[in-house]
Amino acid sequence: MDGTGANPEMLPREILPGVFVCSDTPELARFTARRFVDWAWQSIAKDGNFYAALSGGSTPRELYRVLATPEFRAQVDWPRVHLFWGDERAVPPDSPESNYGMARRELLLRVPIPGANVHRMEAEDPNIGRAAHNYEAVLRKFLPIDDRGFPRFHLIFLGLGIEGHTASLFPGSKIVRETSRWVSTPLVPKLGARRMTLTLPVLESAHRIVFLVAGAEKASILHTVLCEHSDPPLPAQMVKPRDGERLFFVDQAAAAKIMAAQSQPIPKGES
Ligand code: 6PG
Repeated sequence: MDGTGANPEMLPREILPGVFVCSDTPELARFTARRFVDWAWQSIAKDGNFYAALSGGSTPRELYRVLATPEFRAQVDWPRVHLFWGDERAVPPDSPESNYGMARRELLLRVPIPGANVHRMEAEDPNIGRAAHNYEAVLRKFLPIDDRGFPRFHLIFLGLGIEGHTASLFPGSKIVRETSRWVSTPLVPKLGARRMTLTLPVLESAHRIVFLVAGAEKASILHTVLCEHSDPPLPAQMVKPRDGERLFFVDQAAAAKIMAAQSQPIPKGES
């Protein structure tokens, strides 16, 4: 058994500490779903509930579908699972752009999770600042608070944008320097739209951060995030749990540049 508690012959390759490569997106979704099931049981056994924040974008869709299959949904004690979001777009929940909407269609409508355990970000609120305060109140109501005064998730799923953003923490945004707020509402210039997002201190307080990254278009940024020094650091590089683990679950296409570099013979005299 290794750090992820998985059965070795089923394990993807660990190409860097905490970076696991699956052959393709379906295997990535199944591997992640197995871990979700294990972590849910461990947290429920220890703390009575499992507090997890879901990511948005397209990459987690397959995971949500797999978790909703009879094989996996039967393995989760859903009445003890509370789901939150790492970030949300300023759109109504039924919008095709909504991160909540996607998870609802692919997962929430197909598993027996009580409605009271689903805590979406109401980022469509015209007064998005007030909605962010309301979300902080929801986090305060349900989540344990760590020694620095931040809510502590058992698990936070994150994605990776091609320019190094994660959740809705974008390069160059002053939000990445936030040190006290739990939830922020950045205006994202390149999108010309507001987002609602958990802040870096909240991400750093998690027991476990899992970046889900797939596709050849992510190969370059994944290499940058994991193998290069950026000045200033990219938001995805800044997410380091203070007292928890950071894992990357990726597919082969996204890991291609790292794996290519690893297979390069070390030039003479550089070993
Ligand atoms: C969002 C996200 C964002 C996402 C990345 C990757 O609302 O868009 O939460 O951080 O995870 O942009 O998105 P893809 O998975 O679609 O590449």
